[in-house]
This record gives sequence, C-alpha cells and structure tokens, in this order.
Amino acid sequence: MDQAGVAKDGIIGHPHVRIEGRAKVTGAALYASDRRGEGGSEPDAAHAALVTSTIARGRILGFDLPTAAQAPDLLAIFTHRDFGGEIASVPHLMAGGYANSSHLPLGSDRVAYAGQIVALVVGRTPEAAAQAAALVRVRYAPEPAAASFDDPGAETVRLADLKAHHEDIAVGDTEIGFREAPARIEARYTTPIQHHNPIELFTTRCAWDGGRLTVHEPSRYIGAVRHGLAAQLGLDPAQIRVVSGLIGGHFGSKFALSQHTAPVALAAKRLGCPVSLVPTRRQCFTIANYRPETRHDIRLAADRDGRFTSLVHEAEVIASRFDPFAMEGADVTASLYACPTIRTEERAVRVDRNTPGPMRAPPEVPYLFALESAVDELAWRLGLDPIELRRRNDTARDPVSGKPFSSRPLMACFDAGAAAFDWKRRAPQPGTMREGAWRVGLGCAASVRPVKIAAATLRLRLFADGSAEIGCAHHEIGNGITTLLAMGAAERLGLPVERVRVQLGDTDLPAAGLSGGSSTTTSLMNALALACEQVRARLARTAVAPDRPFAGRDPAGFRLADGRLTASDGRGLSLADAVRFIDPIRVETLAEFVPPGSPPDALETLRAGRIGLTTGGDALKWAFGAQFAEVHIHAETGEIRVPRLTGAFAAGRILNPLTARSQLVGGMIWGLGSALLEETVLDGPAYRNPDLAEYLVPTAMDVGAIEAILVPDPDETVNPLGIKGLGELGIIGVNAAIANAVYHAVGRRIRELPIRIDDMI
Ligand code: MOS
Repeated sequence: MDQAGVAKDGIIGHPHVRIEGRAKVTGAALYASDRRGEGGSEPDAAHAALVTSTIARGRILGFDLPTAAQAPDLLAIFTHRDFGGEIASVPHLMAGGYANSSHLPLGSDRVAYAGQIVALVVGRTPEAAAQAAALVRVRYAPEPAAASFDDPGAETVRLADLKAHHEDIAVGDTEIGFREAPARIEARYTTPIQHHNPIELFTTRCAWDGGRLTVHEPSRYIGAVRHGLAAQLGLDPAQIRVVSGLIGGHFGSKFALSQHTAPVALAAKRLGCPVSLVPTRRQCFTIANYRPETRHDIRLAADRDGRFTSLVHEAEVIASRFDPFAMEGADVTASLYACPTIRTEERAVRVDRNTPGPMRAPPEVPYLFALESAVDELAWRLGLDPIELRRRNDTARDPVSGKPFSSRPLMACFDAGAAAFDWKRRAPQPGTMREGAWRVGLGCAASVRPVKIAAATLRLRLFADGSAEIGCAHHEIGNGITTLLAMGAAERLGLPVERVRVQLGDTDLPAAGLSGGSSTTTSLMNALALACEQVRARLARTAVAPDRPFAGRDPAGFRLADGRLTASDGRGLSLADAVRFIDPIRVETLAEFVPPGSPPDALETLRAGRIGLTTGGDALKWAFGAQFAEVHIHAETGEIRVPRLTGAFAAGRILNPLTARSQLVGGMIWGLGSALLEETVLDGPAYRNPDLAEYLVPTAMDVGAIEAILVPDPDETVNPLGIKGLGELGIIGVNAAIANAVYHAVGRRIRELPIRIDDMI
C-alpha cells in the first residue's frame, strides 16, 4: 500500500471515477429543480414566487394587493389569511422533530425575522409570479429587533439550559493552572455569519394525485421531509413521496424539512395543479439556515516545557428565538490535547433571526479556529515549533473522560503533512521570509472530527443475468456514495462495477437517514456489507440443500467471486444457476444495519424520519488531519494570496482514493474561503450582501496548489468496516492554518475572520 487503504487487489481501495460524473458534467443529470411534469420535461402550469418581510420583528397589518392582482398570468396570492391554522408547526430535526426551523411562514400575522416568507404568489410562468410578487405591498407594525451579539434585546442563555444533553465541562481547577503558568494566552476569537450558496437553490415542486402528494426537492434527508410534511399537513406519511436524487450542492444546507414546502403543497392543492418554486438567491439567505456568528474566549496556559496546564473555552453562538438549537463544539476542543485542568462554557445568544443550521463541520470550523489559533500563539510565546508544541500535548486518552481514542494518528498527520509541505524551510522568526514584493508565512493547524454513524436500511437485488441493483432512500450529495455502493457491491458479489445499478433519493425505497455528519459512507457501506452477506448466505444455503449440486456442504464455505458462487475446493456454480435455484429472475434482500451501541429503537427512529446519529462507545472515535498553509502578503498593498495548501488526513479505511481526495480538496478550498472571503454582513437586522456578487467565495484564481495526503489509519474498532468518513474533515482547521501563516508572514495576529486586506495595512 503506497498510502492509506490503497489496496493491491479488488475494487474497494482503488480509484474509481464517479458513476454519475459524466451525466453531471454533460448536463444530462436531472436535479430535483429540473423536474417538470411527471415525465420530467413538460413545463409546469403553475410557478410560485415568494414575498419576504422587510421588517425583522412585528406584525403584518395588511396587504395592498390590487396592483399585484392585475399582473398578467397571475393565478393566486396566498398569505397567512389563507393558510393560517392549516399548517402545524413541527419541532426542529435536532430537537426530536423534522424541520430545519420550527418557525411557520404564513402561520400568523407575526413577523419573527427579516426575510421570512409573508406571501406566496403563483403565476402561469416564473416571470409572471415574480412580477406579481414584486407588486405585493405589505403594511407592517414594526417592533424593535435584536440581530446579533450585544444588541438590546438579545437573550443570552447557557446551552446547558437550552438544549437537552448539553453539559459544560469542568476538570480540575483551571484558575490555579492558569495563574501559576509561565506561558499564557488569553484572547477572543470571532467567526462571521456564513451562508451555503449551493448552485441548486432551495427549490420545491409539489404535485397531488388524488390524496397522494409527490415532492421533488433537493434534500439530504427526504425521510424528514416526508414525515415532517405529514405532521404539518395532517397526512399519513404513506401519502407522501419525496424525491431527491442528485443534489446540486448543499454545503450543509438542505438538511431537513424546509419552511417553504408546506405552503407550496397547499397552493398546489388549492389550484389543482403542480406548483414549482424556485426562490431567488437573495431569498435563499433567509428562508433556509446559515452558519451563525460565534465568539470564543480562550485561556490557554503551559509550563516551561510546553505542557498545557489549563484550558478554558467559553463560546457564544447565535441562535433563534424559537428553536432550542445551537452549534456546540467545546466538547471537541476540550478533548483534543492533554491538559490537567479544563473548563468550558457555551452560551447561545437568541436573536430575531431564522434558526441557524449545520454548515459542514458545523462546530469544528469556528471552534477549532479559536483553539488552533491560541495553540499557535502559545507556541510563539514559548519559542517552540507549533508542531512540537502539539506533540508535547498529544494524548492517547481523552483528558475529560479518560476514555482512550480508538486510534490517534494526529501526529502522524502532522509528520506526513510537514514532510510534503517542506515545513522545515519555515524561518524561526515571524516577518522574515520574503519572495520579491511578497512577505511569506507558513502556518499549520489540526483538523479533528468525531466519527458519526447511523442505522440504515438497504435493498439489494441480484439478478440471474449477472447484474445487481441497490435501492436505498439515501441521497447522492456529491460525495460519491453512488460509486462507492456500486464498487462495494461489485467486490462483494463478484461482479464488474458496471453491472451494479444504484437507486437513491426516493422515499419509496428502503429508509435511510440524514446524509450528514460525514456518516453516509460509514453507515451505508456497513448496511451494504450486511446485504451482500445475506445474499451470499441465501445462495449458499440453497446450493447445499438436498438435491442441489452441493447437498450437505457447509454454506459458510462459499464465496461470490468472478461471477460465480464458489466452494472452498474451487468448484462452483455460475451466478445465474445459483440465483435460478431460488427464482428465475432475481434474489432480493433487505439489510437493516444498526451500528453497535445504538439505542434499541434506532430502526424506528430511522423509519420515522428522525435524527439518529451515534458517536459513543467506550472510546473516542475521531478522524484526524493536519493542515498547512503558505500565504503571500504583498508588502505594499496588503493583498493576501494562498499559493499552497497541504493537508494530511487519517480517516480509517479509504474506499475510493479518488473521491476521498476530491472531498478533502474541496473542503480545503472552502476553508480558504472561510479564512479570507466568506462573510454575510448584517445591516441592522437584515443581510447586506445576500448574493454571489457580494458574498465572496474562492474562484479558481484564488486557489493555488492543493495537496491532500491520505495517512494510514487502520482502526478496526471504530465500526465493523473501519470507515471513519471524511466529508467534513477537509475544511476543518484551514482557517486557523491560514491565520497562523498570516502571523508568521507579518507578525500580526488576526483573531477575527475573515482576514482582509484592511487587516494588513
Ligand atoms: Mo454536516 S453540515 O453536520 O452534514
């Protein structure tokens, strides 16, 4: 093996291009938003547009509709007066419900945040709907609103009081550890509001056929959409089908039931025809979730040898008034390094905004920016190489619970990354490296992410013609799971990859959970392994039955390979014959995978469209990485460039090095955006830059050489297949690595993201 998991034979562990890649790049792939009519091509007769509130808090007094009502090709205008009482609120997905926000648009005359949906306008064309929507006038009685930290009316609550299962951490006496330490850092780090901005907007298309509702909507949890919508509209979940095959980007959005789905479904019912909604990019900033702004007060101290003696992480994150949802992350920062005294306190600051949501690596991106910046600051104070400081505080056990890590390749990642990045060329003093007009800095930071896994069900069919079909209500979010499933089935059933068809993204298929928390590969590949074993065992049992060719043999000795069912002595049957003993066409099995350590109702939770991610066990199960950044800062203009990013990652068994690297590289590029570009700016209670002209993301010209290295991490205990998942690992720590490199380049510590030219001059 040259690198982690790159196998010598078989299919798993070898690079394989994405099965759906060609359809995507040629435009042949159909996204939920592309669905038109049942055949997918006929244009719909009714299109919706949204009117969103221009005040942040208050009451709707009335609507002036006469002008809008005369707009050509208008079909209907719906407000809370039409739908009030017809849509029930359901709790947030992370609070035991289904929704990405429990706030109900068109539920009453109350306005709870700027940009909430206040009317749904339906026209014969998207243009007609948009034109009429622009003519709707809403009269409001505004009330004072709090938009962010420190605004009058913002309500600070301890997370321990807001969320079930949250506990702050206290180990030893951090005061003594801090006071008596020779080297100390005490600083505040802040991260901004960020919005997902996938290419495919937050669309929906709702169509009724009698009492049955079909929803085409980009989603990474169609089960939650189905069950949440059923609860909102008083339907039996069996009446609702939700389809979301390929997702046109999500970055952490599209994770549960959307606020706009039920109103569009009701509009379709009233009008008696399918209704499609494609909101504007600007509206997508307020009708969905976002990464909330955070601030972190870190106190970190070390003895003369660089051993940490005290860590305090106090964090505040923005939350909405109506959901007990806030991004907690100090449990990860508290457990990362050895330290005898640790204290965390996390608080939510509730304001008049929509509920924030997961944006990939939801807590780790902001929380590790704070900790990994502070670690770097302390290294400079101690005069130690920051990698050496991390090595001195490496630990095989969680300093909080005392549990061991299932594997701990953090320093292996730093060593592999440092070698590839040529870390040793780094000058020992900040502000001393230069290339022409550019000041040069090198920085690094850790990336860590707890491994999550969920129950999953999956249907496998093996056909007598030597092909196979996988069916599962999971989603292809762009991570390559379609390809992994085909590779896995091909390897375990002894078929070519091209002979495996994969069907995903339809609630008519066996239930699967949220495509989130980097849990998809881990959960589904374990379910697939179970399904393949069930098929193998069934074929083998049939082959050894009386009157069959292998009567009386031990079925455990049979394998599926090279299109045959083969006994231990090498004799065998063609797959076609083996299948035909059971059925002329195919054998079918349903696998129900429940991860070890799951609650007993894990399958019921899954089938009910609720959240069921597990982490626990008697070890901490984490994926690791080390990020390295080289920044160039122009001595005259302050322009910041990042010519090089190197990441080394250990994430258990790697199934497809090609898609794994592409996940990691994508994350690293996004991390560059998180460090230098992405920020949604509040102007009073409203967002000032809600479009891709002013909300900046990295372009090809911003990205230099990027290298993602896979570090071996054989971890047989993390789950049956040793997979950790790496969808989110790539972005984590990049922002701190860049901030640390900026310090090395110019000797200036920037603790507030994003880092801008203004900070350099
Ligand atoms: Mo992640 S944004 O928790 O799927």
